[in-house]
Amino acid sequence: MSHIDLLNTACRNREEAHEQMQQLLTERPRNLSLPQPFYNDPQMFRVDIEEVFLKEWIFVGMTSEIPARGDYFTVEIGQNPVLLVRDGDGSVEAFHNVCRHRGSRICNSRKGKVANLVCPYHQWTYDLKGNLLFAGTEMGDSFDMKEHGLKKAHCRTAGGFIFVNLTTGEVPDLDPFLATMDEYMEPYDMENTKVAVESNILEKANWKLVIENNRECYHCSGSHPELLNTLLEWDDTHDPRASEEFVAQYERQAAAWDEEKIPHKHVSHGLQNRVVRMPLKEGTVAMTIDGTASCTKLMGRIKNPEMGSMRILHLPNSWNHMQSDHVVVFRVLPISPQETLVTTKWLVHKDAVEGVDYDPKKLREVWDATNEQDRVLAEENQLGINSIGYQPGPYSETFEFGVINFIDWYCETVRNNLSK
Ligand code: FES
Ligand SMILES: [Fe+2]
Repeated sequence: MSHIDLLNTACRNREEAHEQMQQLLTERPRNLSLPQPFYNDPQMFRVDIEEVFLKEWIFVGMTSEIPARGDYFTVEIGQNPVLLVRDGDGSVEAFHNVCRHRGSRICNSRKGKVANLVCPYHQWTYDLKGNLLFAGTEMGDSFDMKEHGLKKAHCRTAGGFIFVNLTTGEVPDLDPFLATMDEYMEPYDMENTKVAVESNILEKANWKLVIENNRECYHCSGSHPELLNTLLEWDDTHDPRASEEFVAQYERQAAAWDEEKIPHKHVSHGLQNRVVRMPLKEGTVAMTIDGTASCTKLMGRIKNPEMGSMRILHLPNSWNHMQSDHVVVFRVLPISPQETLVTTKWLVHKDAVEGVDYDPKKLREVWDATNEQDRVLAEENQLGINSIGYQPGPYSETFEFGVINFIDWYCETVRNNLSK
């Protein structure tokens, strides 16, 4: 086959994959889990990357991970290496981590600090705004340095969270969610925090199974004894399962939050984002094994340890728990049709001292256990779905509304983005 033939075949395959995806989306019964190809077919996976992860806003990390000029971290979105760097004027910039000479990756560490960005291959050098500063002396008179700066990615920050969008087309509006994040995260002063602990788990499951698992607590009583020491599973007082005691507890704590001007009311932006503060179990203040605080220095301007947990959802790839003494942020990145990287970071006040103000073991214990339990659940789910015996099964409207919402968002997003 010639090179042109190969390209034509690739284009045809791509079109076929789009058609197959459109057809599956059109035929999908809304009350059933998705058909098998959504979870294991390489072509469908490519559509997920192209239509979801390269067109939607993706949570990549926290601004406090790169506090000073030249601090950077790297991330891969699909096969696209991306570089997040704190610039001299204090802003966070996102670049394709790809040299404009012959395409080498420029920064190859997970994180670090640089004065300028120097490609390891032939030392082309860029400043922190991505401008090319040095390209050797042999490029000839017609070579224009200005034409060879690093390619930028869209980047927005709010409430300490960094979001990146790699689209070359129309950029979805994130402003309403960013405004909510600025307001709801203000008490936490995230710029003055640090990552105390980080974990990275490569799960052998499609990324949607990881998110689906997170969007319901139907499985919690069977799998998460540590988490259920403190977590109350309902997301608002209107949940049909919410008890009278819970509603009374919520009202008492919400009055205290109002007193301190701590935002807590449920806010949604479509199905993509929701933010809400809910109490933890009566008598507990943090997601630790015994429910006591894991850090003696509270976050930001927070005085009342009884902050419950503010839950933040950002589809397609993040959920988060904000507590009075620490926050836990989760990032999900698809690696292959049946592999997903789940990164968890525990952040505390930047002045908190390890071994004095907090014990990393206590801090991470509950979510380490929960992540491991969820990994097994997602991987077992994948193994069953791969079988010829798998048939999409029914969702419970009461227990799995979060999964229904996620799958509705996913299907709608893929369908819309395919037609753009
Ligand atoms: S590929 Fe970067 S300097 Fe050559
Ligand atoms: Fe779980």
